[in-house]
Amino acid sequence: MIKGIKGVKDILPEETRRWRVIEETARRWADRYGFQEIRIPIFEVTTLFARSIGAATDIVEKEMYTFPDRDGTSLTLRPEGTAGTVRAFIEHNRAADPLPQKYFYIGPMFRHERPQAGRLRQFHQFGVEYFGTQDPKADVDVIALLWRFLSDLSLPDLTLEINSLGTTTDRAAYLPVLVSFLKSRAGQLCDNCQRRLETNPLRVLDCKVPGCRTATEDAPHLVSHLSPEAKGHFDDVLSTLTVLNIPFRINPRLVRGLDYYCLTAFEITSSHLGAQNAVGAGGRYDGLVELLGGPATAAVGFAAGLERIAMMLQEQRLPPPMPSVYVAAFGSEGRPAGVRLLDALRQAGLSAQSDYRATTLKGHLRQADRSGSRFAVLLGDDEATSGSAVVRNMDSKVQETVALSDLPRYFLALIKGF
Ligand code: HAM
Repeated sequence: MIKGIKGVKDILPEETRRWRVIEETARRWADRYGFQEIRIPIFEVTTLFARSIGAATDIVEKEMYTFPDRDGTSLTLRPEGTAGTVRAFIEHNRAADPLPQKYFYIGPMFRHERPQAGRLRQFHQFGVEYFGTQDPKADVDVIALLWRFLSDLSLPDLTLEINSLGTTTDRAAYLPVLVSFLKSRAGQLCDNCQRRLETNPLRVLDCKVPGCRTATEDAPHLVSHLSPEAKGHFDDVLSTLTVLNIPFRINPRLVRGLDYYCLTAFEITSSHLGAQNAVGAGGRYDGLVELLGGPATAAVGFAAGLERIAMMLQEQRLPPPMPSVYVAAFGSEGRPAGVRLLDALRQAGLSAQSDYRATTLKGHLRQADRSGSRFAVLLGDDEATSGSAVVRNMDSKVQETVALSDLPRYFLALIKGF
């Protein structure tokens, strides 16, 4: 037997109801905030991700699915959606159109991580990207959209963590201070962080290894080294969140695993998720459009992990399935009448089904029960000849006779009441 790939899951019909609720809620909130859907490719040239996310990040160093195309070009399955959206924004010269512009996407992403609960190699994100304004209110719009979306789904115990990564100049001034601190503690750092000390020192701050956490407890915080400009931006974001009654916790260690961020960085976590506790995360990335060859364009966005949301979505948030009608047709006259009736019900907008293998009333009723149908139409030769059939309520077992031609209208009226 050929099996699926580790960390790459099938989403079976029992779960897709949950996924539809999540995706429909995401689209509704994106619409409300004026974000328009963009569909970007699943794979791109490798340099797009290496340049955007950063060569010294975990994603680029060890998590990308990269393969040569037939002509040797190196291609990569997208590990996230920001780089592709920015590439499309530049390629289609969107910056020449009126700004700001707001895009959202829903789709699969690929990272070669060690699979565990809430961490997959193919996972799905709902993401938004807001181009063309530096105003801190845009940061808040993006954060609020994520917060309202997750709250609408009644996800439990959400915490918004937020930090400022300063401007490029702020970071350049802060890094030597951090590096000299880290060097003084180098002996206590894990092997990975010893290496990060040279390649990506900021990431040492969010290493999950307990020894590294203790060693960096008193590390100088970037948030205390902000320029007046960056501090003003951060304060504005925080005060606007307060105005909107969105609770937050400043986390000076929050640095994010992608290099394109500046100023605001945030994550929404839930204590219900275990080790992989980030439901969604994002931040500002004012330099990325220019870095990828476009005109300087401020931008901010987030992405939320749909598997993690699905894990937390409670059963009562799911709408009941659409009531359906089971057509129990038997006999040489009844069967063709049943096929016509199924078609008429479906064309009227109803959900109607049958099991063509069943030949007896008993067999049909068993299948009607199994399919969870609310009603069954009993349609044998006599009924087909007389032009009427027996409608059975599967719960109450009450039956009544209805003309075949009236059935679509009859069920539409009944089902509207549910
Ligand atoms: P990210 O923090 O790498 O950011 O991912 C965002 C979310 O995707 C995470 O919070 C998590 O819920 C989900 N996620 C990430 N990796 C996995 C995985 N292996 N399995 C399951 N879920 C996962 C970004 O991707 C940025 N592009 C966000 C952004 C958009 N920033 C600005 N605009």
